[in-house]
Amino acid sequence: MSGGPRRVLVTGGAGFIGVHTVRRLAAEGLKVLVIDDLRHACGEPLPGAADIEAVDITSAAATAVVGRFRPDAILHLAAQGGVSRSVRDPAGDAMVNVVGTVTMLRASADAGCPRFIFASSGGAIYGRAPRIPTPERTSPAPLSPYGAAKLAAEGYLGMFERSFGLSTLALRYSNVYGPFQDGTGEAGVVAITCERLLSGRPPEIRGDGQQTRDFVFVEDVAEANLHALRSDARGTINIGTGIASSVRIVVDELITLAAYAGTSSIVDGRPGEVRDTALDVTRAAKRLSWVARTAVRDGLSQTFESFRQRTPASIPAGAGAAAGLGREPPAESE
Ligand SMILES: NC(=O)c1ccc[n+]([C@@H]2O[C@H](COP(=O)([O-])OP(=O)(O)OC[C@H]3O[C@@H](n4cnc5c(N)ncnc54)[C@H](O)[C@@H]3O)[C@@H](O)[C@H]2O)c1
Repeated sequence: MSGGPRRVLVTGGAGFIGVHTVRRLAAEGLKVLVIDDLRHACGEPLPGAADIEAVDITSAAATAVVGRFRPDAILHLAAQGGVSRSVRDPAGDAMVNVVGTVTMLRASADAGCPRFIFASSGGAIYGRAPRIPTPERTSPAPLSPYGAAKLAAEGYLGMFERSFGLSTLALRYSNVYGPFQDGTGEAGVVAITCERLLSGRPPEIRGDGQQTRDFVFVEDVAEANLHALRSDARGTINIGTGIASSVRIVVDELITLAAYAGTSSIVDGRPGEVRDTALDVTRAAKRLSWVARTAVRDGLSQTFESFRQRTPASIPAGAGAAAGLGREPPAESE
């Protein structure tokens, strides 16, 4: 790894992956500016050394912020992250995930910022992959507007590389989980299950629970972002563990951690849901000198403990089954 950039602009830096990443970058002594309009901020404070501009990435104000800050690199995390929401509102999704990315690429080129790193999605881009773990050379075949938008944005990265001289890299994350993830929304089976357990509701398993995901811990992803910023790698790189874990095993592990006395409830699977995903992470090891270090069991334990500490008057372990407390259940889980 080279010394890398000193001034880094992080879009979406107030979100789940953003806060962990900004903390990691600030701990390395980097000067960090966050652009985030806070529409889906995770609520955790940013380190004192990081500044924030609360503007929409699609706005002229955001472009002006990039011009004033003159970053050495942009890490573009801001996004509409809900797959189900993208199905309900594909144009709204494209506005943030395609137009917002193009706006930030253009701002990067105009501000003379040579390096642009983009948070893409290995879970959404490949669709029903013929090979698991899935390598980057697999032809993308997204099943959702969200995945299509990430793929379109990657296309713009390539064009800005060829025609505007930017050095660009798309990191295709697998299923990221960990402290501060939103467990009240529609995605993130780990966060949703933690929320349900801590509010005394039975965890839900979709379908038979045997569908598998590549669960990668958020602090490992923050480390991958740092390695990417310090590398000159271009193109696409999968960020995951390479290991497929079944949803049922993950939910059962959280039930054990919560000492929950009840059982999970089975709900219908989603039509069109990808059955199995796991990413081939050989390229990340070679080009970024990065591998995920956190075993799923350890990551789940840290995540559940964090959710327990953040839950007001959290229910003591084991008392959840009968309590029936808490918010309305989220409409969907992963
Ligand atoms: N969480 C995952 O499992 C996962 C997997 C693959 C890819 N990703 C990608 O990683 C990135 C970060 O994901 P996350 O889970 O931290 O999401 P998040 O929703 O927690 O964070 C996104 C942040 O972007 C901000 N934002 C959204 N639209 C904005 C806009 N128009 N202008 C300014 N700010 C805006 C939100 O306020 C939020 O703070 C996203 O690009 C997401 O698509 C996430």
